[in-house]
Amino acid sequence: MAAREHFGSRFAAVMAMAGSAIGLGNIWRFPYMVGQNGGAAFIIVYLLAAVLLSLPIFMAESIIGRSTHQGTFGAMQTLAPGTKWKWLGLLTVASPLIIMSYYSVVGGWSIEYLLKSLTFGFNKPEVATEFGTFISSTWGPLLAHTAFMATCALIVVFGVKKGIENFSKITTPVLFVLIVIIMVFSCTLPGAYKGIEYLVKPDFSALTGEAVAMAVGQSFFSLSLGVGTILTYASYIKKEENLLSAGIGTSAFDLLFAIIAGFAIMPAVFASGIEPGAGPGLIFETLPFIFSKMAGTMPVVSGIIAILFFVTILFAALTSAISMYETGVAYLTEERHMSRKAAVLLIFAGCWTVGVLCSLSFGPLSGFKLIGNSIFDLLDKFASNILMPFGGILFTVFVGWIMPKPQVKSEITSGKTTMASQVVYSVMYFLIRFVAPVGILAIIISQFVL
Ligand code: TRP
Repeated sequence: MAAREHFGSRFAAVMAMAGSAIGLGNIWRFPYMVGQNGGAAFIIVYLLAAVLLSLPIFMAESIIGRSTHQGTFGAMQTLAPGTKWKWLGLLTVASPLIIMSYYSVVGGWSIEYLLKSLTFGFNKPEVATEFGTFISSTWGPLLAHTAFMATCALIVVFGVKKGIENFSKITTPVLFVLIVIIMVFSCTLPGAYKGIEYLVKPDFSALTGEAVAMAVGQSFFSLSLGVGTILTYASYIKKEENLLSAGIGTSAFDLLFAIIAGFAIMPAVFASGIEPGAGPGLIFETLPFIFSKMAGTMPVVSGIIAILFFVTILFAALTSAISMYETGVAYLTEERHMSRKAAVLLIFAGCWTVGVLCSLSFGPLSGFKLIGNSIFDLLDKFASNILMPFGGILFTVFVGWIMPKPQVKSEITSGKTTMASQVVYSVMYFLIRFVAPVGILAIIISQFVL
């Protein structure tokens, strides 16, 4: 067997993990979740969840991945051969594919909006309302969904290696710069202060049990947690690298990105009179509004920013979607001995079909509800609020209670024996063993009770 690859440096590892983490979750999902679940109060829960629940899961997954240098299924087989833990390996193959089915629908919307921006289609005032017409139609969104998924399939068939990795190293910082520009513009629109207030003044009465679960689910979604993606990436990290700082670095980067996206979108939402609880379409209504406003004074600049913005959103979405696709392909090729092509086609067929239903649930199937949710929302809630937390509990329980303590310790401290690394280790071990599993379980249960 060929020697297994490693990331060249901690920077490369953080960049790759950040590439998976930063995606539609930050730009598209975070702002509308904030808008639906009470603004600043939601953000506070989100921040707490990031430190107390997400970071321990991140570490648990990293520890399993780096100590075995294997993907999810293989790692569980190595650490706990012949036990029921293999089901955790299987769960983490299925979950990303479920997520990809609806993620790809939104990926399709961003293709459509990229095409619109290429024809300078935002340089007119009525642009914000066009989105509703677009997603409720039948063929346009289906075509876009198909195009997005076919692009992923094509890249995954050829291998994810250098091209896409190097590409995301460029697109992620570019996206960062662009979103900061948009944030500055958005915060200076007339009426923007209401949006800023909404983001900084908590209204705790809006924090229902469901809103708390949504905040926690959003944190998991944004960091790609509970489904083995981080585990797989960590398996490429060298033994001597400091895992904890890679984890903290990635989380901080992801968090910062989401908050900036919030300040880029929410002030414009209020300035434009769009409903903050508008749901999944929020950024596709708000961003065109910003671009059309900008076009009033500087049409060419706004046109170019719009194009760059949707290009980078699309690539952020692609790099995240590919990491989901690859998990399934790796399993089918390595464990089921399928050819790479057959595996890609099989997954394409399955996820495309489910995605079609999700896409139609905004139009012809919008009257069809399961447990009060459209098919799209149901899959999204099932993945973020059930599958990911459930995976998170299992990963933390495994590392906290099943794996030998010295092994966990040497992964967290990277073999260092300084006082500081002992303290950090003790805190992290406590979070992994008790706080994360108990906290997540309480939140899953509270959704059904509160
Ligand atoms: N975290 C990515 C985002 O914010 C989405 C993502 C990538 C993901 N890989 C994942 C979500 C695995 C869940 C599971 O857009």
